[in-house]
Amino acid sequence: MALLEIKKLGCDTLKQTAHPVEEVSYEIKQLVDDMFETMYAAEGIGLAAPQVGALHRVIVLDVSPSDPGFEARVLINPRIVWTAGEVVGEEGCLSLPGVAGDAKRAAQVRIEALDKVGDLQTMEFDGIAARAAQHEIDHLDGVLVIEHFSTIRRNLLRNQLRKLRREGVKQSPGPVEITAEALES
Ligand code: NI
Repeated sequence: MALLEIKKLGCDTLKQTAHPVEEVSYEIKQLVDDMFETMYAAEGIGLAAPQVGALHRVIVLDVSPSDPGFEARVLINPRIVWTAGEVVGEEGCLSLPGVAGDAKRAAQVRIEALDKVGDLQTMEFDGIAARAAQHEIDHLDGVLVIEHFSTIRRNLLRNQLRKLRREGVKQSPGPVEITAEALES
């Protein structure tokens, strides 16, 4: 397993549409392991493959720090097939350290996705899991949470976003292995 560099706002892969996984190959399983390791090291509750420079429709989720009954899972080629309700709540993103704002999301979602062995699963989420899943699925289409923020909020964050963008454009767009110390900086 390896820790991967998390791309910041401004890095090209965050703006692109990720490709569907055609086969849950050894390489994809390896990517999933690396994504879990990277997410836990960064103390995140979700991570999408484009955030580590891999343009595959793969996300990992583990919201158990906020929702103790939640079991960590990988969603491959996830598709939201049903939603209910609307709820506004605060969101951050590992690609936007130090940035948070309110985003409106569906309160409940039903998702179809392949699991880590390639079997199609249907799952329903609410609460923090529903919010995190929608946030991560957005990443697969090149959408960042700041696009859900109000114009006022984005204006308030203008200087921080500009700084992050400057860091992100300097990052290599592909997967880059790093050390634990590098993740903290
Ligand atoms: Ni994010």
